[in-house]
Amino acid sequence: MSHKHTDAQQGAQAAEMFEPDSWDERYSGAETVWSGKPNPQLVTIVSTLSPGTALDVGCGEGGDVIWLAQQGWQVTGADFSRTGLDRAARHAAAAGVADRVDWWQVDARTFAAQGRSFDLVTTHYLHPPDGGMVAVAGRLAEAVAPGGHLLIVGHAISPMFEHLTESHRRAMFTSTDLLDALPAGFEVLVAEDRPRSVVRDGKQVDIADATLLATRR
Ligand SMILES: C[S@@+](CC[C@H](N)C(=O)[O-])C[C@H]1O[C@@H](n2cnc3c(N)ncnc32)[C@H](O)[C@@H]1O
Repeated sequence: MSHKHTDAQQGAQAAEMFEPDSWDERYSGAETVWSGKPNPQLVTIVSTLSPGTALDVGCGEGGDVIWLAQQGWQVTGADFSRTGLDRAARHAAAAGVADRVDWWQVDARTFAAQGRSFDLVTTHYLHPPDGGMVAVAGRLAEAVAPGGHLLIVGHAISPMFEHLTESHRRAMFTSTDLLDALPAGFEVLVAEDRPRSVVRDGKQVDIADATLLATRR
């Protein structure tokens, strides 16, 4: 392994990944960043729910938003990257679901429901720094309507991520880390780190999705 960067440089690069400018830059490139396919835990879990209103926080290019809209949900896609939201809106229009979606520029770290509530609040692979997902989970829970669901999925620590910087790894979480963040009145339905295989650089690797599903009574 080459060591082209000092620890301080790596730390600065990692810190940039937690701010909107670096995501705006990624989403302004010619190529799409993500596959456009819905995330597997979303498909597995949401297929058991009746459609209603949904909020997807950290929606990126809108793959999950579009899939939810195609299943009959009325969806708000939220992200702190304006460029990401604009691209997601173009993808939704191309998929013919523009009338079932709207967009909300928010920073999850300071998210406030502002009186809005949703039958499903979902987020996939949003990793605020320094274990920040615990506090974010509490904020997102406030936006769940009575009888609604909160679904949080992220990368659980696994050997595959050992090469990442310390600050990247501190941004990962396990499903049980999030339990204390749930306000009273939530019932936990799933709290598991679900194994999943992905292909990276032509090789199959095993990872796990930290998955929390809870419902508001
Ligand atoms: C790894 S991508 C995942 C995108 C999408 N959920 C998916 O699974 O394809 C993380 C997304 O979260 C957004 N994001 C990161 N930190 C955020 C924050 N503090 N508030 C809102 N969005 C954030 C990024 O702009 C990016 O679109």
